[in-house]
Amino acid sequence: MPDWPTAAAFLPEERSLESLRAAAAECRGCPLWEPATQTVFSRGEASARLVLIGEQPGDQEDRQGKPFVGPAGKVLVRALDEATIDRSDVYVTNAVKHFTFTVRGQRRIHVTPGAAEIVACRPWLRAELELLKPRLVVLLGATAAKTVYGNGFRVTRERGIVMDWPVAGGPRAMATIHPSAVLRADDQDVAFAGLVTDLRIAAKELA
Ligand code: URA
Repeated sequence: MPDWPTAAAFLPEERSLESLRAAAAECRGCPLWEPATQTVFSRGEASARLVLIGEQPGDQEDRQGKPFVGPAGKVLVRALDEATIDRSDVYVTNAVKHFTFTVRGQRRIHVTPGAAEIVACRPWLRAELELLKPRLVVLLGATAAKTVYGNGFRVTRERGIVMDWPVAGGPRAMATIHPSAVLRADDQDVAFAGLVTDLRIAAKELA
């Protein structure tokens, strides 16, 4: 029986954002590192009070090495601005730090990361949250929400509700839809307005 893959052995002893980012660049904790261009760790300052957690980097993020720089990132920036959340107070990361994809012709198609990859990558997320000690965590979409609250969590049912962390001593957290769900929605305006409504709740929590 093989062990579950884990990034644990790749974490540095001295913890700062810089040391985490440098160590994560060398992470071989699960097989996702190999086909990916690079580790996409995070964007933002250690002083940020709001941490946003997405699923995993997409094609653009994999190429540029930064989270949420593609189409979903543009939606996210617009929504943060509408919710009057100061972007310098936001730290953006993902549940999984490598792009997971399958190749179809010339295109790299996103594949939802599996449970083993999410578990493998969790030591990075834990280290980030330990370091930042944010006032609030916003979970963008089902993968991020399930990473924290387990498989029974339903974003559609429980979005916009500020909750305790499942483990005592953790930050407060709230789930909302993933910005890419806005791009896939039949009515993008309605979906976007819903995302902004949830982020306004986050903004209030930070105020
Ligand atoms: N989607 C995510 O969940 N994260 C990114 O960084 C980009 C797209």
